[in-house]
Amino acid sequence: MVTPQFVHETFSALAERYVIANHLLSLGTDILWRARALQVIADWHPADLLDVATGTGDLALAVHQELSDVHVLGLDFCEPMLALARQRGLAHTVHADAMHMPLEDASFDVLTIAFGLRNLPDYAAALREFRRVLRPRGHLLVLDFSLPNGIALIPYRLYLHHILPYLADWLTGQGSAYTYLGQSIEQFPRGTAMLHLLQEAGFVIPTHLPLCGGIASIYTAEV
Ligand SMILES: C[S@@+](CC[C@H](N)C(=O)[O-])C[C@H]1O[C@@H](n2cnc3c(N)ncnc32)[C@H](O)[C@@H]1O
Repeated sequence: MVTPQFVHETFSALAERYVIANHLLSLGTDILWRARALQVIADWHPADLLDVATGTGDLALAVHQELSDVHVLGLDFCEPMLALARQRGLAHTVHADAMHMPLEDASFDVLTIAFGLRNLPDYAAALREFRRVLRPRGHLLVLDFSLPNGIALIPYRLYLHHILPYLADWLTGQGSAYTYLGQSIEQFPRGTAMLHLLQEAGFVIPTHLPLCGGIASIYTAEV
């Protein structure tokens, strides 16, 4: 079973190579997915945004650069990832566990989490914790991997489980992290299952936007 300690060790070891590995292994599509997320966020006109599992800060920095009026706080439990986020220009960070955030109730208009929810030990409890820190009518945006539908699933699984770990090991020396990535994508709720999970956590108006034929998805919901 994957523990928070394994996740912490994995991202600590990967931190230095995380950004470049992401862009190469996804052939740059992760940049397009975050850009799409940014369009969704811009329509909400937030004042205060919390980016949970911010890692090296890719999404938080994109918001900071494109929507300069928004106060952005990045939260992560892995200090080597956060240190890189700060070096790259993310001014406000908090080193904390997403499951128990040292943040006041109802203190953000928008909470984002990109490629992070999948790594948390209890999705439902995490979503309830996210809802706690959002203001009434606040927005949640989850960007994460899902699986494509239909025939595309066969070559995608071949890439995910049999090619990606070897490429990633060569690039990062952390092939086991990418074996874990494939396993975590398989067991992560997707589509209607995620929409139900959001509703069970007390969110309303859940939506699903598949990206690149379903390889990734943006889910949104309101408090
Ligand atoms: C795949 S990275 C995503 C980073 C960034 N959001 C992005 O889009 O590139 C996952 C991040 O989740 C963080 N993380 C995992 N479990 C966490 C937890 N329980 N609390 C806070 N951060 C966590 C890891 O440290 C890592 O930085």
